[in-house]
Amino acid sequence: MTDYDLVVRGGAVATGFGTTRCDIGVKGGRIVALAEQLPAGGASVDAAGLLVLPGGVDSHCHIEEPSPSGVNEESFQSASRAAFAGGTTSVVCFVPQWKGHGVLERFADSSARAAKGMVDYAFHQIISDATEEVLEREIPQLVAKGVRSLKVFLTYEPLHVSDADFIKVLVTARKHGCLVTVHCENYAAINWRTEALLAAGMTAPKYHAWSRPPVVEREATHRAIALAELVDQPIQVFHVSCAEAAEEIARAQTRGVKVWGETCPQYIALTADQMDQPGFEGAKFMCSPAPRDKDEHARIWDMIRRGVLDVVSSDHCAFSFGGDRGKAQNGRDATFRDIPNGIPGLAARLPILFSEGVSKGRISLDDFVRLTATNPARLMGLAPRKGSIAIGADADLALWDPKAKRTITNALMQHAIDYTPYEGMEVTGWPVMTIRRGEVVMRDGVVQAEPGTAQYLPRGPYDMVKPRGILANGFDAAPPFQA
Ligand code: URP
Ligand code: ZN
Ligand code: ZN
Repeated sequence: MTDYDLVVRGGAVATGFGTTRCDIGVKGGRIVALAEQLPAGGASVDAAGLLVLPGGVDSHCHIEEPSPSGVNEESFQSASRAAFAGGTTSVVCFVPQWKGHGVLERFADSSARAAKGMVDYAFHQIISDATEEVLEREIPQLVAKGVRSLKVFLTYEPLHVSDADFIKVLVTARKHGCLVTVHCENYAAINWRTEALLAAGMTAPKYHAWSRPPVVEREATHRAIALAELVDQPIQVFHVSCAEAAEEIARAQTRGVKVWGETCPQYIALTADQMDQPGFEGAKFMCSPAPRDKDEHARIWDMIRRGVLDVVSSDHCAFSFGGDRGKAQNGRDATFRDIPNGIPGLAARLPILFSEGVSKGRISLDDFVRLTATNPARLMGLAPRKGSIAIGADADLALWDPKAKRTITNALMQHAIDYTPYEGMEVTGWPVMTIRRGEVVMRDGVVQAEPGTAQYLPRGPYDMVKPRGILANGFDAAPPFQA
């Protein structure tokens, strides 16, 4: 009888607090030993010359998300392939709520879809209709099922909530120890600008960015933080694209407000002028908030280094270019308002952050591990099971060749979408193997996991990562009320 099912040998193991050369012993899907020269196990993987990173935790993914107009074309199976291809082993997705409906009725459907995939999953609950029934009776039941964050949109038809309803969501979250995650853009301001642009015949994809300049994001970020401060409820501001919004977060953090900021690869790798291409090509880069310019990239890096933005997610929300529901609108005479928002990024997230961040010397390897795995796992209540290489944690690992050079192509992304906005981008650093709960699920780009092997991750209460990147044990202890 061997002590281990698998031993990962001789890699440089990145803990988030330094890198150490050791073997990793895995038994029953979990890490049970970290030591030099472990005795022979059942199977072994040679990681010499490679970094061993915690499998990525992508805490913001729209996968197979139903809406009244149809289901997101990326299924949990295709998204699992993309995740493993890019070194990610856990995702936090969304259970939708449609206006006039409750939230519990959708949970079973979302769970059944996700269970058919291979990547481990948890859920945020979107609240678009903050009725008493939902807030008083349904949310506690969802919390008992392990859903520990409520997502609100301050813009988007028909999802956006009023300030009054946002406050109700904050109060409910506080009562039940949930995090609130927020899409911060001003709905009325975007509509006003959109109407003006369309009336002036400015309909091309590039005008998407004109319809929602940074001030629109800054205002909503300020308001979301102010209301969260009023209620004393922690929030995470999703997909921060610009320094104006990040500065609102930084100021609030300095006052001790419990606000966390997430950014995404699109805000350090894509630019608004990529939307200025003939035909509908620009639609391939269209997401909200809109990509900004190169100067803004530098400011986002600065905010990452300062610890103001402490999670990097993909916001994978993918629509093919072609097809009836695709971004090209099937050749219809459409305007930027008709183009579905969102881009694919699940597979590209880690390679882009590693290449632009670690390989180019903008952040350390420890920062990379914290931004992509440890911090999201802690904030989402998935730690210590996910997000770090530690005794007792799931054996979720990405074996990474830091010197490998790749040119990103759509085929490398392994998603179901017909394009990647990162086509042609040169990156240094690439995952060569992904291990999920001790099982090799991707080797040299070949994904070999069985559909239906995903596990649901019931979440605990958020475990705060203190602003400025300093880990605090609980930051103000536990949430004010436990479920
Ligand atoms: O454009 C985006 N980001 N679409 C995805 C939905 C969202 O706003 O997070
Ligand atoms: Zn959003
Ligand atoms: Zn999103």
